[in-house]
Parts: sequence; structure tokens; C-alpha cells
Amino acid sequence: MNTLMRRAQQLQHWRTYCIKQCAVAATGNETAAKGKPSYEQFIDSRHQQAERSIVVQVSSEKSYNELYNYCSRFGHIVSAHHYTVQHEDELHYLLLEYANASDASAAIDSSAHSGELSGSTSVPVRSSFLWFRAAAAAAAGGRRSQAKLSAASAQHKTLPLTTVAGTQSWAPAQLQLLLRGAKSIEEQLQLLYEHTRLNDLGVRMRFLAALQVQRAIAGMFPGARAQPFGSSVNGFGKMGCDLDLILRFDGGATAAATGNERELSRLVYHTKENLSNGRSQTQRQMECIGDLLHLFLPGVCHVRRILQARVPIIKYHHEHLDLEVDLSMSNLTGFYMSELLYMFGELDPRVRPLTFSIRRWAQSCGLTNPSPGRWISNFSLSCLVIYFLQQLRQPILPAISALVKAAAATDIRVTEDGINCTFARDMERVAFGSRNTSSLSELLLQFFEFYSQFDFHNRAISLNEARALSKPDHSAMYIVNPLEPLLNVSKNVSLEECERLRIEVRNAAWILESEVENSTLTEQERHEQSWGLLNLFKHPEKAVIRPNMFFKPRMVEVSDLFEKAQHSNGASSTPSINYKNSAMRQQVQSIKAAARSELKQLRESSTATATSTSTSTSTAKSKRSR
Ligand code: GTP
Ligand code: MG
Repeated sequence: MNTLMRRAQQLQHWRTYCIKQCAVAATGNETAAKGKPSYEQFIDSRHQQAERSIVVQVSSEKSYNELYNYCSRFGHIVSAHHYTVQHEDELHYLLLEYANASDASAAIDSSAHSGELSGSTSVPVRSSFLWFRAAAAAAAGGRRSQAKLSAASAQHKTLPLTTVAGTQSWAPAQLQLLLRGAKSIEEQLQLLYEHTRLNDLGVRMRFLAALQVQRAIAGMFPGARAQPFGSSVNGFGKMGCDLDLILRFDGGATAAATGNERELSRLVYHTKENLSNGRSQTQRQMECIGDLLHLFLPGVCHVRRILQARVPIIKYHHEHLDLEVDLSMSNLTGFYMSELLYMFGELDPRVRPLTFSIRRWAQSCGLTNPSPGRWISNFSLSCLVIYFLQQLRQPILPAISALVKAAAATDIRVTEDGINCTFARDMERVAFGSRNTSSLSELLLQFFEFYSQFDFHNRAISLNEARALSKPDHSAMYIVNPLEPLLNVSKNVSLEECERLRIEVRNAAWILESEVENSTLTEQERHEQSWGLLNLFKHPEKAVIRPNMFFKPRMVEVSDLFEKAQHSNGASSTPSINYKNSAMRQQVQSIKAAARSELKQLRESSTATATSTSTSTSTAKSKRSR
């Protein structure tokens, strides 16, 4: 009976797998016809690009011509990128992309192992991570004659390097200069997005890291797929962002037989039975994969296994790619969620720059932190942005339910553990158009105003319905997980952190509104002082400091408290702010009134303390003098 049930289950998984394979093929054709790559096509093309690429460590970018000439013997190089990694010294790398995967393979296969050359004991692993040794050493080794090398070199005209130092992020001071030079807050928002988002080289490097893991197990699992997801591929990633990777044994990448052929086959693989329950089996497998990465893969270091988490992960650092990686094996919903975010980002050009600036603002005031904890995650923050854009009077994004309703048979996706991730992949079928013409800076201000007034206490946010629902439990913040509606995406957020968010959005609305109102600076003044977004992001030091439970809200600057008094004396030169939004005006006024009375109380109590202290001090002095 048990065996029968297991067989039925296997059949069910097999059916899902087949449907998925048909779906992948069909969706591909459909969207290709319209000339816009789908998420799956984008992912596939990046995987193929990684298969055509190699990474070679060199002494500096000056080695490029020599390396180009040497490597051109294996095939036609179509692009070349340079980057550096800060170790004890600055290490230089060149990423070369060939026209064909077989060319890259030939280059890899021609490579020697350092153990062969020096007699040292190193693990002879084949990978795309290589180093370029001096010509004299190679010639002395007798592998290739120097004459042959020079002849080959002479044949090729070097392709210019596409990127030099291609992974260097803008230093804060540089970014500040750039943003000061903008003409408006609108332009600052665009500049910030264009200069801090993950670039093409960053994406290439992340797919090379994925390919390395995939190749490591390809012998046993030829169909395995290591799939990047999260901010590395959804268009919301900034330079230096972590790589989220999901490793699947049955990714369908290189299977020789098609689903149909397999279903008819009379030959069946002998395999090992999964003996324990799914979760502990995954944990055991991940332990094993962790060892494999740690012991055999070049560049992989600091491997940490976090197997008790809801989604068990292996964390590691890749020293040749300067990359932090989170590898999971059971988080397919995260992958499909990234697809949704990617599609939303593609739908309207304002979505990504807006989300970027909000993520940056949250980082600058210490609301987010790279490590997980009781604070809001970047993903939850992105959900807040999406919901804000959905609920506008003229929505900029559709409800997810509209995508689900418009799904065709080719869009069916069900994860291994039965979670339905079916939604239309072709936005044309959703037929959503926005008539909202607000600028980015208007949307940013509206975002802050919207969440200043949002009732986090009683309401849950549903991206599926594009509306707020009654909160089903006592979590401080509740965002219904779009793909697993019984879960709360922001369950980790503590009451204090939620309160801090509410305070910071009010603060930001206040600052931004005054920036908009006072945007009469001359060009020279704009270059010389902080303005616009720079005033919103003016607390970068907070990014690494976690607020403790007794944080002091930075709602009101002391100088603001005396605004009225100074005005009445005619002593202030600062013009008062006319708030367009009456609710905001009221809120600001009541905050100021409350703060004034608090300050008054503080002053009174400090005067009282000071009097008593001075009395006791003089008593002490007089005692000593006796
Ligand atoms: P950064 O790493 O901070 O740059 O952002 P990120 O978008 O990559 O977030 P994170 O690494 O925390 O998560 C990676 C991806 O997993 C996200 O982009 C989502 O697609 C997905 N994800 C994260 N948390 C959840 C969740 O609670 N539910 C679902 N369905 N997906 C999630
Ligand atoms: Mg991430």
C-alpha cells in the first residue's frame, strides 16, 4: 500500500515536471515572438553566457593584450572585462567571453594544474577559474615554444576591454558629488539608480558562480541546475549585492531525453530511496554539498552551514569573484517570487528607481541591515513599494490576482512541495495599463506620506488583492506572502522596528516636502551644498549601527522647535513650509507640539536636578574644605 502511494506521488511529481518543461518551451516561444525576453529567457541566456566564459587572474590589466592573443587560439573572443578584488594586495582578473561554449571548454581543457607544474599537492579540479603564468615559465616548461606563441599573438588584433575595474562601486563622496551636480530631485533619483545598480559584469560573475556549483555535481546529476534568484537577477540589486542561489538536482538543464521519451522508456534508473523525511534529507544533502564546496571548489571559502533555518542555507564567500553566496536547495518559491519582482520592474520604468531610492534611504537611516534580524528586510521593503504602487488611485502596478487570473496552461508552475506559483508570464495577457503620470519624486513623497498614515496596528498588506486586510495575528507588521498566503513575509519585524519605520517615514516625508518646497537653489548653490536626496540620506553612519530598543526618535531637530518663536521675533531667515497635504500639516504640528511640551518638561526637571546637584556639590565642597 505504502509503495503504491509512493508511486502515485512520484507520478504526480513527474506530471508536474513534464507540464513545467512544456511550459518553459511554450512560454519562451510566445514571448520571443513579441521581441521582449521573458524572465526565463533572460536567465537562460545568462547561463549560456557563463558557459562561454572563463575568468583568468592576471598581474594587472596590462596583461590583457598578451592574454587576449594567447586565448584567441581557442576561439573567437567576443567580450572582455576587467575587475579587481581587494585581498592583501589588489588582485586583477579578466573575464573573457567566447562566441561558443566549446571554445571556452577548449581553453579550460588546455590549462595545466599548478600541482603538475610545481610538484605541489593541489586538488586537480577542472573549472573556469584560471591564472595566467609568465610566458618565460611556460616556455621553460616545454609545453609551448615561445616562437609559436609570438606567431599566434601576431595574428590577432586585440578587442578593446569592455570594462576596466568593472566592479568598483561609487565611493560615497563621489556619489555625493554626482547627486549635487543634478538639476532636480527627479534627476538625482535616476542618477542614483543608474550608478548604483548591479551592472552587466556583476550579473555575469554571479552566473559564473552558479555554473561552478552546477558543474561540481554534473557527473551525478547531469540535469542539475544552480539558479541565481533574488536581487542578483530581479533588477532590484545594487553593486556588491549577495548572490541567492538555488540548487536543484532535476533542473532539466541538460537531460538527454525529453519528458515524452522518458515516459515511454522501458529502462528505469536504479536510485536510492529517500529514507528520512524531506527536510532532514535536504539538510543531510546540504551538509554534503557544503563539504564538496569547501574541499574542492577553487575560490570558495568561509563555508558556513545554517541548516536549522526555515529555509536551510549554505553561506560562502567566493574570493575570485568577491561575492557572498547564499545557497539553498528548497526555496523554489523565492525563485518564482523573483520572477514576479522582475516582471513588475519591467512593467513600468519608475518601479526600479523608486525601489532603489527607498532601499537606500532605509539603509541610510538604519532601518535595514545586511544581516537578518528583527528589522525589515529589503524584500519586505520592496513589497511595501509594490503595494503602494498598486493601491494608488491610478495604480502603477496590477494586483497579483490579475496575473493569476490571466494565466494560461503554459504558465502552470507547482513547486516540489506543492506550492502553486502559477501566474501569467506574458503581461500582454494581463492587459494592464497605467494612466498615472506622477514623476518619481512625487511618488517618493507619496510613498512616505502613505506609510506615515498606514495602520500597521490593525491592517495586513496583500499584494495579491492590492488592498489592506484585517491582520490575522499580532505580528507588528503583516505582509501576506504572495505565493504562500498563510505566511507573513515580515513576521520577523519587531514592534520597535515597526515603530521606527513609522517614525522614519514621517521624518522622510517632512524632509522631502521641505526639499521640494525649497528647491530654489542656484546652480552654484546646488554644487556647493547637500540638497534633495542627499538630505534624505544624510545618516549613512547609521547603516552599520543597529538601533537598540530605547532608540531616540530623530523626529524633531531642536532648531525646528524654535521655528515659531524665531519667526515671531523676526530673527529667522528660514522660510516656513507650506504643506500641500493637510493631514501631513496636522501631523507635523501635533508632533511639534508634543515635542515642545516634552522638551519643556525635560527643561523643568533638569533645572530641578541642577539645583539639587549644585546644592549637594556645594555641600560636598564645604565638607572637604573643613
Ligand atoms: P538583498 O539580498 O537584500 O539585496 O535583496 P533580495 O531581494 O535578494 O532579498 P533576499 O536575499 O532576502 O531574498 C532573496 C529573494 O527570495 C527575494 O528577492 C524574494 O524573491 C525571495 N524571498 C525572500 N523572502 C521571501 C519570502 O518570505 N517569501 C517568498 N515567497 N519569497 C521570498
Ligand atoms: Mg539577496
